[in-house]
Amino acid sequence: MSAPDLRTSLPGPKAQQIIARDQRVVSPSYTRAYPFVMARGEGAEVEDVDGNRFLDCAAGIAVCSTGHSHPDVVKAIVDQAQRFLHMSGTDFYYEDQVQLAERFGELAPIDGDVRSFFSNSGAEANEAALKLARYHTRRQYIIAFLGGFHGRTMGALAATASKAVQRRGFGPFTPGVFHAPYADCYRCPLKLSPSSCEAQCLSFIEDQILVHLVSPDEVAGVLVEPIQGEGGYVVPPKVFIERLRELTTRHGMLLIADEVQSGIGRSGRMFAMEHYGVQADILVSAKGVASGLPLGVTASRAEVMDWPPGAHASTFGGNPVSCAAALATLTLVSETLTKNAADVGAHLIEGLRAMADRHPLIGDVRGKGLMVGVELVRNRETKERAPEERNAVVQAAFRRGLLILGAGQNALRISPPLVLSRAQADTALRILDEALGEVEHRR
Ligand SMILES: Cc1ncc(COP(=O)(O)O)c(C=O)c1O
Repeated sequence: MSAPDLRTSLPGPKAQQIIARDQRVVSPSYTRAYPFVMARGEGAEVEDVDGNRFLDCAAGIAVCSTGHSHPDVVKAIVDQAQRFLHMSGTDFYYEDQVQLAERFGELAPIDGDVRSFFSNSGAEANEAALKLARYHTRRQYIIAFLGGFHGRTMGALAATASKAVQRRGFGPFTPGVFHAPYADCYRCPLKLSPSSCEAQCLSFIEDQILVHLVSPDEVAGVLVEPIQGEGGYVVPPKVFIERLRELTTRHGMLLIADEVQSGIGRSGRMFAMEHYGVQADILVSAKGVASGLPLGVTASRAEVMDWPPGAHASTFGGNPVSCAAALATLTLVSETLTKNAADVGAHLIEGLRAMADRHPLIGDVRGKGLMVGVELVRNRETKERAPEERNAVVQAAFRRGLLILGAGQNALRISPPLVLSRAQADTALRILDEALGEVEHRR
């Protein structure tokens, strides 16, 4: 394949038919930004049902870590599928699940022995983390962050505070979650600088939540994304995560890192917590871990995972085909793709920052590895958000053969497969340059 290569107007005739059928029978709650109907993919390129080829800088939604249908992953899936598809890991044993837990023990940035619980998604992996934190500490409450996204099942949704539409109509939520401001340095409400602020935004937890709302000895854990994903690809300063570790340790709370989006090489390290040199007590993973097959992993220090048989389980969680895909994925990501994400991601960020000189819409370029956000604003001084312009840039990129998504209210999310080459990154930069120009010209 070579992308982009557009052969029809968009959507093409076959795509139009499928979308019309979808609109009659599929849940209207999905958020499709543009009419891309997938037929096949290879690496960081995808082809739609009309033969149009696109460069994929979305990877599903930050999922296809090893690229589309990587041959090693496909082989692992086929080999496993031919042997057996299911033998509930909650009631029986199979070696791939054990091997995957061993691998997590090696790769997770947690010293000492590590145990893993397997589920099917990010939300479920967070549910497990929240239940484990309550069980282990015998405390009830959780602190999470505004802008955070942890999933849409009822427990995870109680911690999610990304967009009101995700909560609207679904309350009341699982009680006992308090939200604190996240370190969004581009929009620091305290107007401080990350180099000297000492993460004063965290004083909201110490001086407000733990004084007025809940006693520290009743808080089981603090759930945090080391880089906020849905919230807008927000990278906090190192001191924010360091102080969170110090605060949780001091109060006997567990630090729960939701690495569903930032983990598995995406940030240019296997896990984003490694950027901060801070260890979590519970590490939550999903999305990229099995290259697109459903899998959630909740890993923790071994002594934290002290729940007894029957306390928590899942029929399909850690199914053998997903485990096989995950083992192949982790080999590829640890051997080459994490480094590629760091290298190509740095190149992309550099290119985007250079582009800011000629595009006044660009307010902030941030990210680590191939987790790159570009916040669009109407005015750089006032930082007025540009949500419509962001949506228009996403559309303009699609029309030129580049798949990207939005994140937060007004950021572009660039989260390609970790196999993206420098040449492909340059193609993405060229298209984004044109798309931004088109939208700026229209204003
Ligand atoms: C950080 C984070 N946690 C949890 C989730 C939920 O994952 P899932 O959609 O697999 O339930 C997401 C999904 O976007 C996420 O980005």
